[in-house]
Amino acid sequence: MYKIAVLPGDGTGPEVVDEGLKVLDAVAEKTGIKYEKVMYDLGGERYKKTGEILPDSVLEELKTVDAIYLGAVGHPDVKPGILEKGLLLKLRFTLEQYINLRPVKLYPGVWTPIKDKEPKDIDFVVVRENNEGLYVGEGEFINKNTPEEIAVQVSRNSRRGIDKCLRYAYEYTKKRNKNNNLTLVGKTNVLTYAFDLWERAFNDMSKDYPQIKTDYAHVDATCMWMIKNPEWFDVLVTDNMFGDIITDLGAMIQGGMGIAAGGNINPDGVSMFEPIGGSAPKYTGKNVINPLAAICAAGMMLETLGENEAAEKIEKAVMEVTANKLKSLSAGKMGYSTSEVGDLVVEALK
Ligand code: IPM
Ligand code: MN
Repeated sequence: MYKIAVLPGDGTGPEVVDEGLKVLDAVAEKTGIKYEKVMYDLGGERYKKTGEILPDSVLEELKTVDAIYLGAVGHPDVKPGILEKGLLLKLRFTLEQYINLRPVKLYPGVWTPIKDKEPKDIDFVVVRENNEGLYVGEGEFINKNTPEEIAVQVSRNSRRGIDKCLRYAYEYTKKRNKNNNLTLVGKTNVLTYAFDLWERAFNDMSKDYPQIKTDYAHVDATCMWMIKNPEWFDVLVTDNMFGDIITDLGAMIQGGMGIAAGGNINPDGVSMFEPIGGSAPKYTGKNVINPLAAICAAGMMLETLGENEAAEKIEKAVMEVTANKLKSLSAGKMGYSTSEVGDLVVEALK
């Protein structure tokens, strides 16, 4: 019996999470998985009402669940950064979810802005370090509000943190067993401290994996190759900031935020799964947002829990819907409402 904490969050989060849970219920019934949901109302509304973002008591409870299913974080009336740092990043950091796993896969029938590329060409996975780098929030203002002002933002990269991330990436590449190719993405020509360490750690660890081919690409060139030759990539590993940026690009080439899912993973602890698009305030409550990203996130959650059969069923059902039903993946243009898309996936499971 799994215990799943559900955090629908802000904006369209609750709408897409509802569809994810609908699909989860359906696949659980088919495969005999048993789970219980614990709902949490964390997010902008609660913060506005009570000033609470993530109470310690809730954090303690979240440490005891099997997985967390998250909708979206970000509220138009709350200053940017407050919920992101106080909720999303705090969960990632406190629960030591040191991996952010983001598959970039073009499903059949999905439009990609890259001309002449097909599903066989766009199928790679980004392993983003999720606990360090520029995200540690270290820095200072010097001479604030003067013409001499300087803002310092530190990127902290520990050998231990890098090694944990790389170990996951190598093991993932091996398990994925597609091209057995792992690419380190960095900026060794400029960030001569941070990526010097990354590169040394990457090369050292490659000795443990003779079957895995390794290569290196600068992050700017990676953006170029992701558009020009996405078929070159199998698994990419990179730091937190670069991973954030290249996975938005990745989301676009796989058809947009409507389909892009991610997992914040602590392989020895509690992991959290989310559609990577934001809270989309302008579509909130309209029943037009695409729930497939949230549904795919539920699939990733099952896979991480070791429920591979159920995860595969969800992915197959999603592919059937993209291939045969939806006109587009964009909000309002799917030819179906949010809840109808959830129903289509449930139908395709049968
Ligand atoms: C993401 C988001 C977050 C990030 C924001 C909301 C803090 O962009 O999950 O990619 O930068 O990691
Ligand atoms: Mn991002």
